[in-house]
Amino acid sequence: VALLFYSSVLSGEAWVRALRAESPELDIRLLPDIGDPDEIDCVLSWRPPPGTFARLKNLRLVYGTGAGVDQLLADPELPPDVPIVRVVDDAQTDDMVAFVLAIVLGWHRKLDVIRAQQAAKLWSRPPFRSVRDVRVGVMGLGALGRATAERLAMVGFDVAGWNRSPRDIPGVEVHHGPDGLGAFLARTECLIVLLPLTDATRDILNADLFARLPPGAYLVSVGRGPHLVEADLLRALDQGQLSGATLDVFREEPLPQDHLFWTHPKITVTPHVASLASPESVAKQIVENLRRLYAGEPLLNQIDRVAGY
Ligand code: GLV
Repeated sequence: VALLFYSSVLSGEAWVRALRAESPELDIRLLPDIGDPDEIDCVLSWRPPPGTFARLKNLRLVYGTGAGVDQLLADPELPPDVPIVRVVDDAQTDDMVAFVLAIVLGWHRKLDVIRAQQAAKLWSRPPFRSVRDVRVGVMGLGALGRATAERLAMVGFDVAGWNRSPRDIPGVEVHHGPDGLGAFLARTECLIVLLPLTDATRDILNADLFARLPPGAYLVSVGRGPHLVEADLLRALDQGQLSGATLDVFREEPLPQDHLFWTHPKITVTPHVASLASPESVAKQIVENLRRLYAGEPLLNQIDRVAGY
C-alpha cells in the first residue's frame, strides 16, 4: 500500500507523523520524491496541484483531508471511477460549532458595539433581547450544520435549518428543498451557511436570497467562498438589507490585499479558521478506510460524485 500525500497548500509532515503513529507499516510518499507512481493507490489531498492524477495509473482511492471535497471534484483529471472520501470528524465538528457560537453570540450581544463604547469610556447598554427570541438559521444540515443547529438550540436560540432533503432534528424547525427556502429565510435574522459547494449551491448567497431575509439580517459564511456573490453582499450591506457579515471563506484565498472586504466596516474577515480537520484526529479513519478498501468493504464517508458531496 502506498499512499501519496499531495497538496499545494498544506505541509505533509504532520499528516505523515499522525498516519505513522496509527499504522507504522504504511508506505507514505511525499513530493517531490514519490518513487514509482504505479505503486501509489491512494492519494490524500487538499487542493492537489495540476497534473496530480494524470501520473497515477493505479489509483484506487482519493482521500480529501477536509469536510468539503469541491476542490478535488473541480480537478478535470480526477479519474471518473475512483471512490472519493471526505473527512467527517467529531473534533472538527466541535470546532466548527464553537466558532459559529463565538460569532453568533458576539453578534447577538453586540460585543463589537460594546468594545467601541469602551474605547469611548461610554457606559451604555445596547437594547436587550432574550436569546430565546432571536431567530437563527443554518443552511446545510450535514455533519457540521446539524451539530451547529443542535447546539445553537441548546444555547437557547430559536433555531431553524434548511437542507436539500428532509432532516429530523429535535428542537430545530427544519425546512427543505427549493419550496422550503422562502419560509426558512423569512424567519431567519442570522443566517449561518454550512452548505457543500456544488453546482446547485454556487452563488446561492445572492441579491435574491438576501431580499428574502428580514431587513437587517446578519450573515455568517463558513462553508465555501463561491457560495457568495460578493457584489450582491456589498450592495445588500449598503442598502441595509443586511446589517453585517462574518466571512471565513472566500472566492480567492488568501483574500487579495486590495479586496474591499478587508476594510468594510460591516464585514468581519476571518482567514479560513473556523475549523480544520487535524491529522491526529483524522488518521484513524484514514487507516480504517484503507483497511476497508483492501478488504472490499464499504468505505466510510464516501461521497456521491453526482451530488457533489
Ligand atoms: C475545510 O474547509 C474543510 O473542508 O474541512
